[in-house]
Amino acid sequence: MTRAEPGADLLFQAEIKAAVRTAYRDIPTGAGAVLAERLYPREVVDSLPAAAISWALGVGDPVAAADLTPGEGVLDLGCGGGLDTVLAAREVGPEGRVIAVDVLPEMCARTRAATEAAGVAERCEVEVGEMEDLSVPDQAVDVVISNGVLNLSPRKSRALAEVARVLRPGGRLCVADLVVETDLPPEVLASPAAWAGCIAGAVSERVLRRKLVRAGFDDIDVAGHTGFSLDEVALYPLFTPEVMELLRQLLPREVQQQVALSVIARCRRPERPDDAPLAAPSVAISGATPLAAIAPDAVEAPGVTVRHLKGVEDAQLKVLDVEPGGSTPHHTHAHAHEGVVISGRGRLRLEGGDQPIGPGDAFSIAPREPHAIESEAEHPLRFVCMDCLFD
Ligand SMILES: C[S@@+](CC[C@H](N)C(=O)[O-])C[C@H]1O[C@@H](n2cnc3c(N)ncnc32)[C@H](O)[C@@H]1O
Repeated sequence: MTRAEPGADLLFQAEIKAAVRTAYRDIPTGAGAVLAERLYPREVVDSLPAAAISWALGVGDPVAAADLTPGEGVLDLGCGGGLDTVLAAREVGPEGRVIAVDVLPEMCARTRAATEAAGVAERCEVEVGEMEDLSVPDQAVDVVISNGVLNLSPRKSRALAEVARVLRPGGRLCVADLVVETDLPPEVLASPAAWAGCIAGAVSERVLRRKLVRAGFDDIDVAGHTGFSLDEVALYPLFTPEVMELLRQLLPREVQQQVALSVIARCRRPERPDDAPLAAPSVAISGATPLAAIAPDAVEAPGVTVRHLKGVEDAQLKVLDVEPGGSTPHHTHAHAHEGVVISGRGRLRLEGGDQPIGPGDAFSIAPREPHAIESEAEHPLRFVCMDCLFD
C-alpha cells in the first residue's frame, strides 16, 4: 500500500497515536508557571504542588467551569501532571472521588505524586488508559473533565462515546480544548509536533458541537473563547524551535496572531432513560449492520484502513483502503452518502444488486440504503468517502 506523500494533509491514526505518545513521553517538563498563571487564578497556582505546576500542559481551567460539588465522582481524562486532578479532588472533598486516566504511565506517576503532595491521594485513583477505550464502568461518574486532550485523539467521536458511556444519566462533561477555525497548511496538519501540540487535531467549533450532539449530549454550551497566538503556542515544550520556525514560515501573519482558540465546552448526558448515550441514529433495516451505529470513526473491519482527511470543515472526509478480497461491513448511513474511487477495482454491493466500481467512479448511495464496498483487484481498493457531510 502506498503511503501519504510528505506534506499531504493526512496521517494514519496509528501514526498520530504514536506521535502523540512519543512527544509527551519525551518532553522533560511541562509548560510551567508561565502557562499555569495564564490559565488559573494566582491563588490557585500558589496553592498547588510545585511539580504539578511545572507539568501544566492544559489550555484552560475546566475544574472552575465544572461546578463540582462535594461528594461527586469525577473522571479527569488525560490527567498529565495531575494539576486538574488535584483541583477536582479538593472540590469534591473527602466524600468524593476522582479517577485520573492518562495513556502514559509516566504521566500517571506524576499525577499520583501530585495528589500525594496535595494530601488528596486517598480520594484519587490514577489509571493508565486510553480515552478511546476506557476501563471505567458504565455510568460510573457524575462529571468528566479534560484539559487539552480531546484534540489529541484521531478518534474523537469514539472518545466522546466513551465519555457518554461512563457518565451517569444527567452527568456533565466539561472540556477545555482548542478549536481551529482556519484551514491550516497540509505540512502543519501532517506534522507530528503540531498534532501533539493540540493544533493539527483541533476541529472547528461547529464540528466540536456536532460531535457532542452525535455522542448524545444535551445543553451544549461552548464559551470562554481565548485566542492562542503563535507566541503562546511556543510556551508548550511540544513545539521544537524547528517546528516553530516551520509554523512561522507557513502560517500567514494574521493566522499567527490567532492560530487557535481555547474554549470550554460544557454539556450533559440526558436524564431520560430512553436516550441512548450514543446519538448514532439507529437504522432498522433487516440484513444491514449499521456502521458502528454510524459513528463516523467506526469502520473497523479486517483489511479496511481508514484515514481521516483534514482540511475540510467537517473533518469527516475519509480515505478508505479495502484490501484485496476484503469488504467494508454491510452498513447504512443516515445521510446521502457519496464516494469517489481513487484506485483499485471492486463492487458496490447493494440490496438491488451489485455494481462494478473502478478508478474515477463516483457513487452516491441513498440514505439508509444498505451497502458494502468490496475489493476485487490485486491492490487495495482506495476511495475517498464523503461520509456525513450532508447534515
Ligand atoms: C496537553 S496534555 C494535558 C495534560 C493535563 N490535562 C493538563 O492540563 O496539564 C495531554 C495529555 O493527554 C495524554 N493523552 C494523549 N493521548 C491520550 C489518550 N488517547 N488517552 C488518554 N490520555 C492521552 C498525554 O499523555 C498528556 O498527558
